[in-house]
Amino acid sequence: MKTLTALALLLVAAAGHAETPQAITRQYADAAPAGFVPAARRGEALFRQNFAINDKMPSCTACHTDHPKNPGRHAVTGKTIRPLAVVANGERFSDPAKVEKWFGRNCREVVGRACTPGEKADFVAYMNEVR
Ligand code: HEC
Repeated sequence: MKTLTALALLLVAAAGHAETPQAITRQYADAAPAGFVPAARRGEALFRQNFAINDKMPSCTACHTDHPKNPGRHAVTGKTIRPLAVVANGERFSDPAKVEKWFGRNCREVVGRACTPGEKADFVAYMNEVR
């Protein structure tokens, strides 16, 4: 029994912490100022906004294309990026650590600062709802 429990714990640890896009949206919304309600419409605006800070990647669309259902292409390395839209890629927004890692890197590079919890909630809501 002990061995089974240990094995189960090991498997959970190896698989990482799986979540749904809805739960991840809610977690970010909870970290935003009181009364915040996520809006896919604002998430889309963030996705499309030209921040004009980084010549090679002025907006999220520079790598993720102008529609999240499309496979992207890294603006610097040329590597293919799988679609961000959940409807096109069921693995998206299921691993909170991965989501945080990429918001961290991409917001810093494109927006020039960390995205706020509210912006992240809006962005995930958009990626989950876009068809
Ligand atoms: C320089 C290219 C590039 C730009 C510009 C870019 N991204 Fe990404 N993004 C990536 C790559 C590469 C990955 C990781 C590979 C993958 O998951 O397919 C990724 C993954 C992500 C993920 C992880 C999603 C998940 O659950 O798997 C999020 C969130 C994300 N990007 C948000 C953004 C936001 C927000 C912007 C604009 C502020 C942005 N990205 C701009 C290259 C980019």
